[in-house]
Amino acid sequence: MKLTFLGHAAVRLQHAEHEVLIDPFLSENPLAVTAPESLSPSHVILTHAHGDHVGDTVTIAKRSGATVVAAVEVVNRLARDGVEGVGMNVGGSADFPFGRVTFTPAWHSSAFPDGTYGGTPMGVVVRLGDVTIFHAGDTALFSDLALVARHGIDVALVPIGDHFTMGPDDALEAARMLQARHVVPIHYDTFPPIVQDARAFARRVSVETGSEAHALAPGEALEL
Ligand code: NI
Ligand code: MN
Repeated sequence: MKLTFLGHAAVRLQHAEHEVLIDPFLSENPLAVTAPESLSPSHVILTHAHGDHVGDTVTIAKRSGATVVAAVEVVNRLARDGVEGVGMNVGGSADFPFGRVTFTPAWHSSAFPDGTYGGTPMGVVVRLGDVTIFHAGDTALFSDLALVARHGIDVALVPIGDHFTMGPDDALEAARMLQARHVVPIHYDTFPPIVQDARAFARRVSVETGSEAHALAPGEALEL
């Protein structure tokens, strides 16, 4: 399984013939190094409706024929743009050709840039091959993140930007609860209010928790 950090909260997961994207915000991201045209996923998973997460979903899905997997409200709104989707909701799991998806709670908000209601914001556990990835979405720290550890997380993607989500101190606490083998910080540096020292965060996680943390630059990958 290859996990490529595409910048902000966007990741590309590749395993065997499968390619799955989560929150592909690329063309509007000043730090992104990957063009949406270079991606051909079968599925795009969205944690919530905010513009910095839906990003290039419609363009990518229309070109590659990808199915969007997200909250029912997000899928219904994207259907109006001609995108196919599977609507789910928090706490639910479903099986796909690439593996299993489980949506988990996140403390945040969710509306499209035009104000359309986007349902509940969520985190997501993705089982791909024998690797389990947790993308926390945009969230505050909350104690029920400890329940996600029951999935046996290999890689946890946690926001550290502060301002819109938890910051580094709370993300360190989240890492303690998630007990993942690997931790990758996301949702930082893209815009001035969320500039953070991701390397310092990664060092603290590696020293103070049982997880090994990796501050990946956009375009960098982790192979598991
Ligand atoms: Ni958000
Ligand atoms: Mn966000």
